[in-house]
Amino acid sequence: MVKNKTVFVCQNCGAQSPKWIGKCPSCQEWNTYVEEIIPSKKTVNNFNSYSSKPQLINDIEISDDTRIDTQNTEFNRVLGGGLVPGSLVLIGGEPGIGKSTLMLQISLNISNYKTLYVSGEESQSQIRLRADRLGINGANCFILCETSIEKVLLNVEKLAPDIIIIDSIQTLQTERIETSPGSISQIRECANIILRFAKQQSKTFMLIGHINKEGSIAGPKILEHTVDTVLQFEGDSNYMYRILRATKNRFGSTSELGIYEMQHSGLRQVSNPSELLMSQNNLNLSGSAVSSTVEGIRPFLIEIQALVSSSVYSSPQRTSTGFDLRRLSMLLAVLEKRAGFRLSVKDVFLNIAGGIKVDDPAIDLAVVCAILSSDQDIAINKNICFSGEIGLSGEIRPVNRIEQRIHEAEKLGFSQIFIPKFSKKSVDFSKFSIKINEVSKVDEVFKILFP
Ligand code: TYD
Ligand code: MG
Repeated sequence: MVKNKTVFVCQNCGAQSPKWIGKCPSCQEWNTYVEEIIPSKKTVNNFNSYSSKPQLINDIEISDDTRIDTQNTEFNRVLGGGLVPGSLVLIGGEPGIGKSTLMLQISLNISNYKTLYVSGEESQSQIRLRADRLGINGANCFILCETSIEKVLLNVEKLAPDIIIIDSIQTLQTERIETSPGSISQIRECANIILRFAKQQSKTFMLIGHINKEGSIAGPKILEHTVDTVLQFEGDSNYMYRILRATKNRFGSTSELGIYEMQHSGLRQVSNPSELLMSQNNLNLSGSAVSSTVEGIRPFLIEIQALVSSSVYSSPQRTSTGFDLRRLSMLLAVLEKRAGFRLSVKDVFLNIAGGIKVDDPAIDLAVVCAILSSDQDIAINKNICFSGEIGLSGEIRPVNRIEQRIHEAEKLGFSQIFIPKFSKKSVDFSKFSIKINEVSKVDEVFKILFP
């Protein structure tokens, strides 16, 4: 084995040292030294080695490689229409969220392609047990338990699978560096070896990555640069719903999202996300409002719950689950200043049902209505839903895809929807049978809701 020389490099200023040091003497930053391999002389500045030539963009031939259908509609959607051959996909998520389950399920389901599931965490019999539990017969799926990247790639060359799943990148190690598996230099080196291999041999790799304490995948963004697509698998461990989103995608949009439900026999695809809401009971209670939201291009309805109560402390509490806390403070300030509600002496708790997180600004109106419904202790009719963003002066601002939002509300049997007045003029509202209330200010909504 050829021993590679390594050097410790400050990730902040680039200073080098033969030994690890805690504080960088040149930029004074702490804990920035990371071991790196010194590239051999042959590869440095060897301009003759560039064999490819510049080509006119129109002359470049597009390979007609179609995308690989993963047989999993939600997963295909998040990827932008399926797996791109030769691409590198990273799936991150907290321990126990279901990354291994999702990946095993997908490798068992893709039957037209040969898949290899490499696990450094579980034994072959454990994976077999899990596959039995999922109840899928993976006729074309191979399992390998190995942690050395060199041995994994040897097996890949021998077996020639189309798709390789690595569970997880943190358990892999290369002989080229001596640090322990899971260290930053090991992860980066293994990812680079895989990248080179994937692009040369046009193999598709899916890497599972654990999330560290700061919430990013395996350290400071080192893997995000290397791979083509970064997916996040998230959810609240108290709920069964799991959301898959793309945070980086070279072959598709990052606004799509896939929804799953963790069941006894694996992850079920949730093709109608509004069931997140519809499964709730239909008691007419105050403090709840329904919003018609759009994530990516998918409309669905979601229930917002609020609880407003008198504060026993001098500084009232504000807590929110699934909704940005600063945005909640902003909405409360708008209510106080523009609509005259004294909420600064009240505790406000906000919760989005189903434990999912929504970024769509159009849920503002439902948030505000839920808060006031709880404050006034008057229930909002359960056949009403809302869609609208709220501006700083209490105006209701137009939102995108208004037609889809109205359509979804109508489809699910709502009889009335509140939308911004200045929505797109080209939309023909007369085709909807649902009653549409066009409103321009928050006080107008309250006058209609709480006369
Ligand atoms: P796992 O895929 O091992 O999580 P990760 O790889 O992200 O750490 O999933 C772990 C959880 O999923 C575990 O707590 C049990 C649950 N689970 C089910 O509820 N149903 C199932 O069919 C399977 C396989 C797991
Ligand atoms: Mg796992």
